[in-house]
Amino acid sequence: MPKSKEAWGSRVGLILAMAGNAVGLGNFLRFPVQAIRNGGGAFIIPYLVSFLLMGLPLLWIEWSQGRFGGIWGNHSTPFIFDSLGKKRIWKYVGVFGIFTDLGIISYYTYIESWTFTYTFKSIAQSFRGLSRHQVSAAFDHYAGVHSTLAGHALPVNIPAWAIIAFLVTLAINIYILSRGLSGGVEKVAKIGMPLLLIFGVFLAIRGITLGSTGIAGCATCNSHVGLDFLWKPNFTSLSDPKVWLAAAGQIFFTLSVGMGTIHCYASYLKKNEDIALNAMTAGWMNEFVEIVLGASIVIPISVGYMGLDWVKANAGFMTAFKTMPYLFSQWGVVLSTLSGVAWFGLLFFAGITSSLAMGTPFMAFLQDEFNVSRNKSSLILGAVILILAIPTILFYQIGVFDEYDYWTGTVSLVVFALLEVVLFSWVIGVDKGWEEIKRGADIKMPLIYKPIMKWITPIFIIVIFVSALIKPVGGGIADWQLAFHQLFTHGTWPFAHDSIIAQMFHIGTPWVYFKNGLPTAMFFKDMSRLLLTLTFAGVAVLVHIAAKKRGKTAKITEP
Ligand code: ALA
Repeated sequence: MPKSKEAWGSRVGLILAMAGNAVGLGNFLRFPVQAIRNGGGAFIIPYLVSFLLMGLPLLWIEWSQGRFGGIWGNHSTPFIFDSLGKKRIWKYVGVFGIFTDLGIISYYTYIESWTFTYTFKSIAQSFRGLSRHQVSAAFDHYAGVHSTLAGHALPVNIPAWAIIAFLVTLAINIYILSRGLSGGVEKVAKIGMPLLLIFGVFLAIRGITLGSTGIAGCATCNSHVGLDFLWKPNFTSLSDPKVWLAAAGQIFFTLSVGMGTIHCYASYLKKNEDIALNAMTAGWMNEFVEIVLGASIVIPISVGYMGLDWVKANAGFMTAFKTMPYLFSQWGVVLSTLSGVAWFGLLFFAGITSSLAMGTPFMAFLQDEFNVSRNKSSLILGAVILILAIPTILFYQIGVFDEYDYWTGTVSLVVFALLEVVLFSWVIGVDKGWEEIKRGADIKMPLIYKPIMKWITPIFIIVIFVSALIKPVGGGIADWQLAFHQLFTHGTWPFAHDSIIAQMFHIGTPWVYFKNGLPTAMFFKDMSRLLLTLTFAGVAVLVHIAAKKRGKTAKITEP
């Protein structure tokens, strides 16, 4: 049985690390954008339902699978699943729990490095006196957008400062990981999470109290208009599949379920340590940060200055970097500097506590299976991230970054979550799984969750996945009816551009790899997919080798 010296130092440390794993850029950047694009208050109900019927059960499932695997000395999903399922295939299913993290961490660390730089830029007052367009252009300049390789039309981004900041951020991550769980990850969580909360509360108070900015000709330039838009529930959304898809996708990403990180962290628990209450505490902490703080910063502040219509039309992931520094600069030197530091500092801590979690499963796998030391495994992880991240930096503008986010941060985690719930509820059986969750529990598990885990959660995920797979153009309920009509009358299906099938086969985009002697965006996208596929295959081969090594020993018995 593999031996590991890692362990959590304290319960508080464990909960903060788990909450830090969940609380990330997704809470402050992805959530507000999803909420505003999906009708504000219309988004909240599907979001909360997805949390209760899918997110929370998945948290308990992952914590229990992880703790169970840890009893057998397994700390990454390939062999955690191997100790759970009887069939060999489960360890290959577990590959998702390493692959997904490697894919996400590569572009995630790059964003983290932007927040790192922007914290210093805020201290240095770099945005003072700049117009909104100049602040936006400053980001493009920083990320090397619009630069081309000398003499060529090919948009290769070679942003010197951004690359240096990325290397520094990566080095910080690797150093912390090399210090281990209690000596590194836990310490950072204990400092980072409280700071994040302080910064978040400070900015949320600012967002809530900003009120009307009195900008001439802008009747909706009032932060309360933004808050109203987010909080006024809208029940018509309950029949809109688009909103459900977005809400469920956000729950996956924000809770970090379907990634393998929770499994890995939980595998360092002791056999009878509570998971029922711990999982719920970390999950609700994430929801508090997302719903209360995440919703009270970007949207109200930008609505306060730009108006609701502008925010609805323009809010995106990049608002954080391209618009917020300009808005802060309206507040005078002291407050704008404090706000900039709080905002980007908060994003940095949110990011790093999540990226550390994403680095852990691959390291644990190397340590468990190949006896690689902690230092060495962190360096190998660093090298892999570097290789995977380079294309997202150089071809950011061409969309390689988005490809990674789509396949690993959107699709892969849903597939993995579905398989893990099938393993829990149907292969092992929900009765056994339930007993496993209850062992050492500090709360009485609500019995209603037993049938939910068996039926509702898997069916929910299947419906979400199939809907995303074949989403028709438009994606609304009437569009689905039309699509079925078209299927029965013409035998064709109008795949939406962002359906998984259309993405996979480039439906609606001419298949061209070279134009005027230069590679096209499609070429780069397909090369990045190839790289991700090779990463998956590479991890699968390592799992195969590890299994062979293990196969020589007799069937493991519980310690
Ligand atoms: N759960 C992490 C986030 O929200 C990945 O960013």
